[in-house]
Amino acid sequence: MSLKITVIGTGYLGATHAAAMAELGFEVLGLDVVPEKIEMLQRGEVPMYEPGLDDLLRKHVAGIEGSSGRLRFTMDFAEVAAFGDVHFVCVNTPQRHGEYACDMSYVDSAFAALAPHLTGPTLVVGKSTVPVGSADRLARYLVENSPAGEGAELAWNPEFLREGFAVQDTLHPDRIVVGVRSERAEKLLRQVYATPLSESTPFVVTDFPTAELVKTSANSFLATKISFINAMAEVCEAADGDVAKLAEAIGYDDRIGKKFLRAGIGFGGGCLPKDIRAFMARAGELGADQALTFLREIDSINMRQRGQMVELTRQVLGGGSFLGKRVAVLGATFKPDSDDVRDSPALNVAGQIHLQGGQVTVYDPKGMANARRLFPTLGYADSAVDAVRGADVVLHLTEWREFRELDPAALGEVAATRLILDGRNALDPALWRKAGWTYRAMGRPTA
Ligand code: UDX
Repeated sequence: MSLKITVIGTGYLGATHAAAMAELGFEVLGLDVVPEKIEMLQRGEVPMYEPGLDDLLRKHVAGIEGSSGRLRFTMDFAEVAAFGDVHFVCVNTPQRHGEYACDMSYVDSAFAALAPHLTGPTLVVGKSTVPVGSADRLARYLVENSPAGEGAELAWNPEFLREGFAVQDTLHPDRIVVGVRSERAEKLLRQVYATPLSESTPFVVTDFPTAELVKTSANSFLATKISFINAMAEVCEAADGDVAKLAEAIGYDDRIGKKFLRAGIGFGGGCLPKDIRAFMARAGELGADQALTFLREIDSINMRQRGQMVELTRQVLGGGSFLGKRVAVLGATFKPDSDDVRDSPALNVAGQIHLQGGQVTVYDPKGMANARRLFPTLGYADSAVDAVRGADVVLHLTEWREFRELDPAALGEVAATRLILDGRNALDPALWRKAGWTYRAMGRPTA
């Protein structure tokens, strides 16, 4: 008999995981505590922009014409407990307000709501990114608070999906990592992931702390790569070198690799910044804080990039105040192919210039609604061309394909000054310069 799967929490991670599990052939029941989210998902609509996810949902959500009917949603924990053989917990763990540590309250609430309904042998699988040691605590909690007692078992199975590639990363993962304490748990998880899609995927079986640490250390490593190349950009800037060429050249070394070496205004989003901070906080609690002091530097290099973009903008505008200057900002989301503006470097730069008197107009292909909510006082335009109209300087701050495909000559007709700063090192300098623009990017030669 095929396993029945439940997914608790239907954000980026949970909604994608639920749809992917249905795609793999399982009967799936998703749960969220926000009624509006459940109503949207039941209609096959995704509460955020994630390429391919709406199609996958509509393919499986029960009640939608032509769907497999394998995916349903509820708000009822008792129903979830009765339905599932394996329960995936996918709720988020944001940064705690005013602190480095992460907020475990959503995870704790999910376990508290689920445990009393677990009456028979079952497997709960944590996927959220948590401080190391959480799985051990939550495993004890389940045993002590479920009628099933020892039968309510826990496993930890971190998720490595990237926004913008969530469906692809879930259906074709690089690796599957599971922290387990019994053969039964391992067997069940192998069954969940034993599909033709993941046959060739490395399956790493380990203990709880290692599974938890794999996730936080992977994100720390990625953050380190980005801050490393941004530090090199600072040196290139001072020495008149070219950080893009430098990244290309060091990237040919397989041991270094080409990916995650694009210098610019740095990393943002709901994961990397808060994960490295929570990791430092947890290491401190464990008495291992010295091991992670370098992450403090990674974080501060990253935050410095935003300020440097503001200063470069000031400099190309002739120095002094931004008062009376019109600044077009292309990009609001923290990365392309997402509508997520959480800790977005682009909006941070736009906000700083606005606060210093600049007249900022932002355009983003998908992030406008979220940006308007977060920064209601910025100016917004309905297209890149409208944002650039009359601008003294154009800032390219999120590397959407739409911006790479812009016609620099046509844009030059509407801008007040042909001056573009590429905060993502993603445009072709030659193309823009040929069309009469002054192109500048951090860590790159001026011409
Ligand atoms: C990240 C991890 O990649 C993923 O494995 C984990 O599961 C969740 O956190 P995500 O937050 O979606 O995923 O974004 P990612 O693609 O990692 O990019 C993070 C930030 O780094 C973005 O703001 C991006 O613009 C920036 N970045 C990325 C750079 O500045 N330079 C690069 O070379 C790469």
